[in-house]
Amino acid sequence: MERKISSKTIRRCLCIGAILFGGAASITSVMAEEYFNVVDGELQRPTGYREWVYVGTPVTPNDMNNGKAAFPEHHNVYIDPTSWSHWKKTGEFRDGTIIIKELVAVGSKAAVSGAGYFQGDFIGLEATIKSTSINPNEPGNWSYYSFSTPDHKSLTDTAKAFPAAACNACHAAAAADDFVFTQYYPVLRAGKGAGTLATGGHSSMLK
Ligand code: HEC
Repeated sequence: MERKISSKTIRRCLCIGAILFGGAASITSVMAEEYFNVVDGELQRPTGYREWVYVGTPVTPNDMNNGKAAFPEHHNVYIDPTSWSHWKKTGEFRDGTIIIKELVAVGSKAAVSGAGYFQGDFIGLEATIKSTSINPNEPGNWSYYSFSTPDHKSLTDTAKAFPAAACNACHAAAAADDFVFTQYYPVLRAGKGAGTLATGGHSSMLK
């Protein structure tokens, strides 16, 4: 027997659909807002950042720093995708930015391509966040965190912010853009306020 679907049933379905869809959309927009979580003054270790936007890899190898670089050795740096969009549009870091620096050891110094510094194991994780609500009194509203253990063999689950003198002071003195060392991140340099051009390959010029 054929089952009749009344227009009333369809209206009800559309209505439920709208509620579900509307709810999902608002959850997504809340989640897209910030990619970090601070509980009782401690930043919870962020996850998923290797799927954010990669901006560059400074390297301070131990063998060029008396055997013990402050942040050994490669630093793979990522910014959250919403803050990247904002950077492309405005050339500024939004309130709510998080930048991750994942430390990777020098694994090998020779490859078939030549002598060099090649990435080995992961050995640490640092982060900085810009938030007017969490850091109302910090310079530029940035705070700095380390999840690296002293032996560089594991990561902590949470981290307390360092005092401004320990981290921020050096960033304030030498970083090119709002406490961030954009001079060492070619992706951020090329992307600053550049809109679509920030995404690469749109010009025959190398920039
Ligand atoms: C003596 C100067 C100096 C001090 C002190 C310092 N940094 Fe940095 N930091 C740098 C430089 C230079 C870079 C970029 C190049 C690099 O990674 O080597 C950087 C980059 C970073 C980045 C990537 C985002 C950015 O702003 O460029 C994070 C995260 C970071 N540092 C965390 C920390 C933390 C946490 C501390 C305190 C424990 C700290 N830094 C102390 C010089 C410093």
